[in-house]
Amino acid sequence: MLIGVMCLVAYLMGSISSAILVCRIFRLPDPRFAGSNNPGATNVLRLGGKLPALLVLVSDVLKGTIPVWGAYFLQIEPIWLGTIAVCACLGHIYPVFFHFNGGKAVATAFGALLPIGLSLAGLLVATWILILWITRYSSLAAIITVGLAPLYTFLIKPLYTLPVTFLTVLIIFRHRANIKRLWQGKEPKVGKKSERE
Ligand code: G3P
Repeated sequence: MLIGVMCLVAYLMGSISSAILVCRIFRLPDPRFAGSNNPGATNVLRLGGKLPALLVLVSDVLKGTIPVWGAYFLQIEPIWLGTIAVCACLGHIYPVFFHFNGGKAVATAFGALLPIGLSLAGLLVATWILILWITRYSSLAAIITVGLAPLYTFLIKPLYTLPVTFLTVLIIFRHRANIKRLWQGKEPKVGKKSERE
């Protein structure tokens, strides 16, 4: 019962699309229908610059961290902690408050993994920064990082490998338009104006 409630809370928290709300507050275009059409920090950076993007990034991380952290302190078993993390990401991707039209859950997944292991989270963020620094593609950095996440998890926190693998599949699936654009050489780099704007 308690776990079911926590999964529901995680899903509802994940469903709060900070990108859409921050864009409304800053009077920016709706990120679902502008730029890459993705309600996430990268697209808000394109549409509105660093401050709104930072607010979105922090909020998206927190909505993954808070429910998993709560469950962690209640000493809930790893498999259920992982399930709660998945629920937060499903909320971000398919938000009940925004017609189930959400984002890609990279920041929320990272936030959800923070209470599970700081060394794992550190390795993930280091990988993401390194790939972003080399390529300037936010999407490619995310795809490679989540692609390596099951291996990192297996090596550092093996009990969480199954939910992390599920998140990897889900997040890469959500990046299929980015993969197509990367393949076609049309993906915008961070810091450059999108060709699609
Ligand atoms: O985390 C999302 C990022 O990987 C891609 O964002 O807006 O370029 O589709 P975007």
